[in-house]
Amino acid sequence: MNRRISKAIFPVAGLGTRFLPATKSVPKEIMTLVDRPLIQYAIDEARAAGIEDFIFVTSRGKSALEDYFDLAPDLESALEKKGKTELLEILRSTNMDSGTIAYLRQHKALGLGHAVSCARKLIGDEPFAVILPDDVIAAEKPCLQQMVEAYQDTGGAMVAAMEVAPERTSSYGVLDIAEQDGAVTKVRGMVEKPAPGTAPSNLAVIGRYILTPQVLKNMDSIGRGAGGEIQLTDAIAQEITAGRDVFGYSFKGERYDCGSKAGFLQATVAFALARDDLRDDLAGFLAGLHNGSQG
Ligand code: UTP
Repeated sequence: MNRRISKAIFPVAGLGTRFLPATKSVPKEIMTLVDRPLIQYAIDEARAAGIEDFIFVTSRGKSALEDYFDLAPDLESALEKKGKTELLEILRSTNMDSGTIAYLRQHKALGLGHAVSCARKLIGDEPFAVILPDDVIAAEKPCLQQMVEAYQDTGGAMVAAMEVAPERTSSYGVLDIAEQDGAVTKVRGMVEKPAPGTAPSNLAVIGRYILTPQVLKNMDSIGRGAGGEIQLTDAIAQEITAGRDVFGYSFKGERYDCGSKAGFLQATVAFALARDDLRDDLAGFLAGLHNGSQG
């Protein structure tokens, strides 16, 4: 099969309950790390990996997300008139070409696997990427780009993998390792949210995937899994059962779980400290807090 990856699915139809009450009216993906919405980080990563078609699986109440990708000609001309060229550049860098974004609705939040399968008709017969915008990854080479490069050698299905503490494995999909070769792990099984003490390893799946259309077909036969949801992990694991290759890829970079409040706050601080315009003020403030707590 052709190994060019030009389409990415962004499943954003979840309820975002961990951020209530904010998510009553603000989609989680529009919440900002410093001054960029989570979804912008995901789009930037996809573009860096060569993605040309962006497919959003959305739900009720996500119209702010669709609006975000509209052009803003009035704003652009106001900035132009005022000579605010730097801001204008920032704004223009978020523009998307017409026809490159598609929005689909997942009518019921039946799970991540189900959300991804809603995009089946737009994917057709080629491998594709899936990006969960909740997982923000700071990396010198963007994570999906690392995976796309590795995928040129491996083929099959590939999931981003990360070591987590043993007591955290029950929150993730976990890999059963067949063999490891550098960053690439051949997988012999996958379990979604294993009960404490039963995880086959501490290598967990996080929100970047390169998948084949066959994984979408598997969705028809898997039924509901952990938490009563149709799980993407189960559809990928079906590939292994059918004798096809699945790989974990241990990316280089720092991942922040921005679907959780603690992860979101950590990412906010880390991204702000990485910025020249904010570092000194924030570092001084944090040092003051730290000294205060010592005293
Ligand atoms: P989460 O497990 O983080 O769920 O979904 P959530 O609804 O977004 O947030 P909480 O747990 O209620 O706070 C992981 C990813 O899968 C998508 C979410 O939008 C998120 O990107 N998802 C999940 C769907 O698109 N549809 C679903 O039915 C479930």
